[in-house]
Amino acid sequence: MSDETVPNPDAPAPHKRRVRYAGKNPRRFDEKYKELNPDQYAETVAKVIASGKTPAGTHRPIMVAEILEVLAPKPGDIAADCTLGYGGHAQEILAKISPGGKLLGLDHDPLELPKTEARLRALGFDETVFTTHRSNFAGLPQVLAAQNISGADLILADLGVSSMQIDDPARGFSVKFSGPLDMRMNPQRGQPVSALVEKIKPEALAHLLSENADEPKAVQLGVALAGKKFATTHELADAIRAALPYVAKEDGHLHIRRVFQALRIAVNDEFSALETLLRNLPACLKPGGRVAILTFHSGEDRRVKKSFQSGLWNGIYSAIAEEVIRATPEEQNSNPRSAPAKLRWAQRSS
Ligand SMILES: C[S@@+](CC[C@H](N)C(=O)[O-])C[C@H]1O[C@@H](n2cnc3c(N)ncnc32)[C@H](O)[C@@H]1O
Repeated sequence: MSDETVPNPDAPAPHKRRVRYAGKNPRRFDEKYKELNPDQYAETVAKVIASGKTPAGTHRPIMVAEILEVLAPKPGDIAADCTLGYGGHAQEILAKISPGGKLLGLDHDPLELPKTEARLRALGFDETVFTTHRSNFAGLPQVLAAQNISGADLILADLGVSSMQIDDPARGFSVKFSGPLDMRMNPQRGQPVSALVEKIKPEALAHLLSENADEPKAVQLGVALAGKKFATTHELADAIRAALPYVAKEDGHLHIRRVFQALRIAVNDEFSALETLLRNLPACLKPGGRVAILTFHSGEDRRVKKSFQSGLWNGIYSAIAEEVIRATPEEQNSNPRSAPAKLRWAQRSS
């Protein structure tokens, strides 16, 4: 073997040229290398946020002040963040429960969780105050038991997908940029959307579209899409448009979003995880402990509202949110992703 073919483990990593993009600003996710390296390019990130957008590879936490108000974290508290995501809420809660407190961060996304753990560790939150758990939040009781915690003072769930997941075309959630038709938050489990659509019968798809997203053209779309092969998010979006030829372009976009939402809920089994969490919550909270849940569509909010109300009637909860709490107009303006969010809370009886 000649010397040229022997890799030298001590050699410096080869210099990588940055991605070139056409025009003044990067458009594709993988071209946004400045936003993807916020530590190096803080100014660019600040400009993106000021323009009402979410920098690529990050997530802007929603209703932080409102959540801190209802959860009222204090030094020494045990907190469980069921949906750690980018760790925006967790970071704020950690600051309030120190010294003496501990936050358990759960997330079932194996790709983002290690990055978030590294980010929060770099902010100084070590294993004594912050632990991460790659787990579905349906398994919260087991996560707490494994840590010898009999109940948390506060629990947060910020449902749905993170901006890191939705904006990265490779994860297969994006309507805007084509990617493999996947949509699993945990790509190591279950089936991608492409497989579900290929196998499903029209009536079952129509039922799913109506149940998961209140899609008014569920029957028509069920017939047009079920049993077909779609490899990418754009192929599916084009087929939805083609199935509704008399629908105006703006309305067409709403149908596409609803179909994507319904399929995402299905492949991630989102309603069943939420129902399990709601059932387990009282046993996971200390007496007097508080839970806050952020939802993003009516199917989620209905379930949370019903569960909190029945918990109040049967005395499990001593108080619940009387009205849903919404992001302020300022927040909705500066982060449009907060517009559909609804916050509800409950307090376990003492
Ligand atoms: C809206 S993001 C949370 C953002 C987070 N609050 C922040 O400030 O960065 C939702 C996160 O919950 C995770 N998730 C959704 N459903 C889950 C489930 N059933 N179990 C565990 N994690 C889940 C997703 O992978 C995603 O990272």
